[in-house]
Amino acid sequence: MEKQNIDWANLGFGYITTDKRYVSNFKDGAWDEGALISDANITMSECAGVLQYAQTIFEGLKAYTTEDGHIVCFRPDLNAARLADSARRMEMPVFPEDRFVESIKQVVRANDSWVPPYGSGATLYIRPYMFGSNAVIGVKPATEYQYRAFVTPVGPYFKGGAKPLTIKIADFDRAAPRGTGHIKAGLNYAMSLHAIVQAHAEGYDENLYPDAATRTKIEETGGANIIFIKYNKFITVKSDSILPSITRRSLEYVAEHYLGMEVEEREIPIEELTEFEEAGLCGTAAVISPVGKIVNSGKEICFPSGMEKMGPKIQKLYDTLTGIQMGRIEAPEGWIYTIE
Ligand code: PLP
Ligand code: COI
Repeated sequence: MEKQNIDWANLGFGYITTDKRYVSNFKDGAWDEGALISDANITMSECAGVLQYAQTIFEGLKAYTTEDGHIVCFRPDLNAARLADSARRMEMPVFPEDRFVESIKQVVRANDSWVPPYGSGATLYIRPYMFGSNAVIGVKPATEYQYRAFVTPVGPYFKGGAKPLTIKIADFDRAAPRGTGHIKAGLNYAMSLHAIVQAHAEGYDENLYPDAATRTKIEETGGANIIFIKYNKFITVKSDSILPSITRRSLEYVAEHYLGMEVEEREIPIEELTEFEEAGLCGTAAVISPVGKIVNSGKEICFPSGMEKMGPKIQKLYDTLTGIQMGRIEAPEGWIYTIE
């Protein structure tokens, strides 16, 4: 296939309409057989559950071109399982997990000219999602849903690529105890928009949310989990109100089994931030984006790794993870799904 004529190296994290998207509708208690379609627009009731009460959930994963020229994606089975968890929490029907993986393969294959070439610095972002599509005016779940997956080629999530970020401890809360912080519901992102606009206006790259109950422990940012390095330890947050990042769970394995690091998943008090050597945000979009500075009520916490480049241990984690994703390093069994 001929690749699209795109300046891959200078892509940002934006939406570009591609050729095909996968669509399946749920009605009368069952999902239809699904299909790839060309129409990028959606027509639905003005009173649809998603429009009135934000009944929508989503996922994010990527397809990569490997060193030897295959198109692969990374652990889509975990996205399938997490979308199912999100659906159950939002009173939505589960899109069968095997069909989810199949839909990802189909939509990537149908848009293969949009998959950035190996070494270009870009990747194909895949956005599966599901929403309540029929009219509801009383507060209750919809009875009809649409599952959809589109793709768009993307570059780095944060402008400036691998330059360390400056983030602030958020003035707002993200997720309440027993709330929806652990699922990927649109509502978690809708409520973060005011906080991110404000943080950007103040010159910060992102918000680091503290736990809503006590505001003494850190949780995660608006779109990524956070990881820290102390000595030879890889330390991440344990909390019921953060999204269980697939990147973070993969990095825990990489740290232990590929890099011989000790892994700790535990509560992290804000006070401990001064003790870390390196920090990074991790996620599908963020990959691993280094953090150089965290500002807490005007007080700066500067990591010894500095503001110029990634610290050495975060760099090793980044190189190993992306090496696995792009086929340069052997992957643990079951992590890589070959599409083409
Ligand atoms: N946390 C939040 C709030 C996110 O939106 C994301 C992005 O998906 C992540 C963490 C990272 O999760 P993953 O590594 O599965 O992409
Ligand atoms: C992802 O990493 O896939 C996400 O959904 C994060 C989002 C903020 C772009």
